[in-house]
Amino acid sequence: MPPSQKISVLIVDDIAETRENIKKLLQFEADIEVVGTAKTGREAVAMAKEKRPNVVLMDINMPDMDGITATELIVKDVPSAQIVILSVQSDADYLRRAMMAGARDFLTKPPSGDELVRTIRRMYEISKTRTVSAASSTAPGLAGRAAGAVRGKIISIYSAKGGVGCTTLATNLAVALHSEENKTILVDFNLQFGDVGVFLNLQSRHSVMEALEKDEELDPEFLGSIYAAHSSGVKALLAPASPEQADVATAAQVKKALEALKHEFSYVIVDTPSALTDIVLSIFDVSDRIILVATPDIPAIKDARIFFDLVDALEYQPNRVMMVLNKVDKRGGITAANIQESIKHDVSAQIPLDDRVLYSINNGVPLIVSGRTQPAAQAMLDMTSKIVAGFSPVERTAPAAQGVPDDKSKKPPQRRLFGG
Ligand SMILES: Nc1ncnc2c1ncn2[C@@H]1O[C@H](COP(=O)(O)OP(=O)(O)OP(=O)(O)O)[C@@H](O)[C@H]1O
Ligand SMILES: [Mg+2]
Repeated sequence: MPPSQKISVLIVDDIAETRENIKKLLQFEADIEVVGTAKTGREAVAMAKEKRPNVVLMDINMPDMDGITATELIVKDVPSAQIVILSVQSDADYLRRAMMAGARDFLTKPPSGDELVRTIRRMYEISKTRTVSAASSTAPGLAGRAAGAVRGKIISIYSAKGGVGCTTLATNLAVALHSEENKTILVDFNLQFGDVGVFLNLQSRHSVMEALEKDEELDPEFLGSIYAAHSSGVKALLAPASPEQADVATAAQVKKALEALKHEFSYVIVDTPSALTDIVLSIFDVSDRIILVATPDIPAIKDARIFFDLVDALEYQPNRVMMVLNKVDKRGGITAANIQESIKHDVSAQIPLDDRVLYSINNGVPLIVSGRTQPAAQAMLDMTSKIVAGFSPVERTAPAAQGVPDDKSKKPPQRRLFGG
């Protein structure tokens, strides 16, 4: 890549030796350039404004201003800069504060070279989409940030078979995507047996059914009154408490609710049941991305093939569907390459089988919060950045030319595979 397109990195740490060590880890990466080092939070803020780096590697404890405050200020002034916290303190509370301040990722000191480089590259993918759209905005500051935000993308998570990890990935994806700039909501459309509330340890008297059953426009104030709020900042519309309450939901109501949410949120993540009902098909119709989750086993490959036949029949653009393999375990003997070969569709991300995923659910804290540096969490973050990278600024500024929503608008909205 030409020098001007290198990933620019700012290193912030009060200890000279740490700054040097990180610099050394990055010196042989042809696509990464360290554009500055700062030894205090104040220096970091000033340097970030001047150099506008793609990525800031930020220490927490520093003399004049701590890393969390510096993060807050940089996020405000240089929204395209993605901040990665590097700290010896890896406890969940510290991490949560850093993430609330707007940091994008978290690494424990000392990071391995691999981990650091992988994280920087992933951050760059996110930063690219922000820089271009912020630059195309005329007004700096808040207006620029709004222009840099992704708007109204619906991402649905589906699998043909139950228990493969849709809710796990949906909850982690929502937490990974949410930021001040890109507010995110997770909607549980597994109306009968939805468990988003359990996964995020949320209780609410309200459910998504209230949005579906309301005849009038779904205004922001009403929607605000029925969300549950997670400590990460993610909002959630939960499934109703008992399965029979879901009986009355219609596909038209679901579409209307999702359209309303698109106006309020950058990302609307939809967890779906494993059944091709009218409601699920209507969710697909309005989705910008459909994440097909499968496990590496023969039944799942069979189901994935059937699913891609359906996708063909519905004439969705192939890039609207991303396949993710979950619970990947070398001992199973089926690789992503085998699956790609068999179904002629890319596997976009692979999440390893890891018991910590189960513990995280039992604790009601998504793994990317409680164990962000774990391989399974890193794989979920990789999956997230692939989804984000797909929403390029061109697509967002010129939807008609790129045509992601356009294959939807060309077709009658009630298009159905099975009659109707
Ligand atoms: N990568 C993983 N490693 C180990 N266990 C996992 C992984 N992903 C999910 N699980 C476990 O698999 C089980 C099913 O996950 P989850 O509930 O997310 O699947 P689902 O597709 O939403 O299922 P349902 O059909 O019940 O809605 C959970 O117990 C979860 O802890
Ligand atoms: Mg589920």
